[in-house]
Amino acid sequence: MCGIIGYVGDEAAAPFLVKALKNLEYRGYDSAGIATICNGKVCAEKDVGKLEQVCGTHDLHGLPGNVGIGHVRWATHGDVTQANAHPHFDCKRQIAVVHNGIVENYQDLRTALECNHRFVSQTDTEVIPHLIEEYMDAGASLEQAVLQASKQLKGCYAFAAVSVKEPDKIVATRRESPLVVGSNAHRSFIASDALAFLEETNRVVFLEDGELVVLSKDITFLDNDGKPVKKDFKEVDWKWDQATKQGYDYFMMKEILEEPQAIRRATMQDRKLLLEMAIGILRSKQVVITACGTSRFAALVGRYLFSRLAGKFCDVIMASEFQYFSDSVDRNTLVIAVSQSGETADVIQGVKRAKENGATVYSMVNTVGSSLARMSDSVLYLNCGPEIGVAATKTFVSQLALFYLLSFTMANKLDDGLHDLLAICPKIEENVTKNNKKLQILAQKTRDKNDFYYIARGINFAIALEGALKMKEISYVHAEGMPAGELKHGTLALIERGTPVVVVCPNDYTYEETIANAHETKARGAFVIGLSEETHPIFDDWVVIPDVDEIFQPLVTVVPLQLLAYYSALTRGRDPDKPRNLAKSVTVK
Ligand code: G6P
Repeated sequence: MCGIIGYVGDEAAAPFLVKALKNLEYRGYDSAGIATICNGKVCAEKDVGKLEQVCGTHDLHGLPGNVGIGHVRWATHGDVTQANAHPHFDCKRQIAVVHNGIVENYQDLRTALECNHRFVSQTDTEVIPHLIEEYMDAGASLEQAVLQASKQLKGCYAFAAVSVKEPDKIVATRRESPLVVGSNAHRSFIASDALAFLEETNRVVFLEDGELVVLSKDITFLDNDGKPVKKDFKEVDWKWDQATKQGYDYFMMKEILEEPQAIRRATMQDRKLLLEMAIGILRSKQVVITACGTSRFAALVGRYLFSRLAGKFCDVIMASEFQYFSDSVDRNTLVIAVSQSGETADVIQGVKRAKENGATVYSMVNTVGSSLARMSDSVLYLNCGPEIGVAATKTFVSQLALFYLLSFTMANKLDDGLHDLLAICPKIEENVTKNNKKLQILAQKTRDKNDFYYIARGINFAIALEGALKMKEISYVHAEGMPAGELKHGTLALIERGTPVVVVCPNDYTYEETIANAHETKARGAFVIGLSEETHPIFDDWVVIPDVDEIFQPLVTVVPLQLLAYYSALTRGRDPDKPRNLAKSVTVK
C-alpha cells in the first residue's frame, strides 16, 4: 500500500533513501522514486518496476543533497506508469510530495485546482503538491501550507513534502495511514514503518492522526492547529538484521523456518494481562473477532479453541464487512481484532466504529506502536520480529499461539497448555525436514494444474482455507478451501480427472467423514493429496504430519501447505516474496 520515507542528515540523502525503500518494498513494488533538494532545485528520479530495476535504469543513488523523500508504490489511482510514480510535483517543480493512502475527494480538488494548475498524472496524490503550492504562493511557510492542505483532504493519508523555498526541511503528516519518526545524533527519518530505518536508529516516535512533524536539524511536532506538542522518543526492540534474508533465497522460506521460534516467542506474555483478557472474554456478553486474510483464518482456529477449551462461543467477521454489523455492536460487545501489521484499513475502520458504539477492543498485533495497538484497550504482541514476505506465514502461527494462550487461560490450564504447546515446536522442525523434498516433487508434479481444492473439517477447516490462500497468493493458481462437508453443495461439479484435492485429515474424530468426502472426489477422478499421520489407499500422494493432540493440529498441518505453495510458486517462476498485485500492509479500504 505504498511506502514513504524521508531523510534529513549530515550526509547525502539518496543512499539512505534507497536503502530504506528496499526495506519498505513489501508495501508496494510497482514503481519507485526519490526526490532531493540541492542548490535551489528539486532533483528527482522515478519509474515503473521494482526498486532494483529502477536503480538499474536511473541514478537514484547519485541524486545530490542532504534532504530527500522517497516512495515505493502499490497503485490505487492511475495505471502503473512513470508519470503516476511518486514523487509528485507542483507546477513550478519546487515542491515534491510522496504519499501513502487515498485522497477520496481528489477529483473535486483537482477540478477546482485545474484552472490555475497543470496536472501531469492520473493520481489522487498530485492534488497535494498543488494545494501546498497555492498556500505557499499566498505566503504560507511549508508547515503552514502542509497543515492547510491536509485540512482539505478527505480519506486516509501519510505524506511528506519538501520545497526549494525551505530547503533544509521535510514536513510530514498523517491521517489513518502510518507514519513514524526516527532519529539519532546525525540523521532523522520519517517512514511508513520503522523497519525502513532500523539499521540507523531504533529511537522512534509514532505520529497521531492530524499531527505534523517538521524534520530539519531539530525535530518539531505540531498538533492539527499548528501548535507545538511534546512527544517522547522510545526504543523499539526489533533488530534491523531480522529484516534481511540472512542467506535464504526468499524471505518466505526464512520465515517458514522461523515458525517454531515464533511460537516460542509468542508464549512470552505477561500472565497478569493474559488473565485479565481471559476474564474479559469469558464475562463478555458478545465476543466478535475481526480480521482480514490470513489473520482471519487464525481467528477461525481461535474460535474453535475458545469453544473447545473454554466453552465460549464467538463469531468471526471479515473486517471489511464488520462495519455493516455496527447495529449489533454496543458496550456489551468485546471485539478482538487480529492484524499482524496493525495497520490494515478495514480492521481499523471496523474497530473505530465498534469503539464509537462503546465496545471494548482487544487486539493481537506484531508491529509495536501500530495504529491498532494504540487504539486497543489491551494488546497481545506476537513478538515474532518483522515478517517481510507478503504472504503471512510465521505471523499466522504466532497468532495461533496467542489464541492457545488465551484459551488455556480461560480454561484455567495455562501451565499445562504452555508445556504442550512448546512441545509442538520440535515436531514442526522435524516435519519440515521430512517433507521438504517431497513437497518440491509434489509442486513439480502438479505444475500444469490450475485448479486446486483444499478440504478439512473441524479445527482444520481454517487450515484448508489458509492452504488455498497461500497457493493462490503466490502461485497465481486458482485454489479454493472449504469444509469437506460443503464439497457436495456445489464444488464437486468442478472436479475432473486429475484435479488436485488436498485433503487435510489428521486421525481425529473428523477422519472417517473427511475420508468419505475424499472418496467422493476420487470417484470423479481427483488427484488426492492426503495430509495425515498415516497413509491411506485413497491417497495418490501422501504428506506425513506428526501425531499431535487434536487441538494442536493446525500448527502442524499448515506448515506443509505453506511449503507446497512456496515450491509451486518457484516451480512456476513466481517471486513468492512479492506476488503480483498484492501488498503486505493494506492501508486502503
Ligand atoms: C494482506 C496480506 C496478507 C494478510 C492480510 C491481513 O492481504 O497480503 O498476508 O494476511 O493483508 O494483514 P494484517 O496485517 O491485518 O494481518
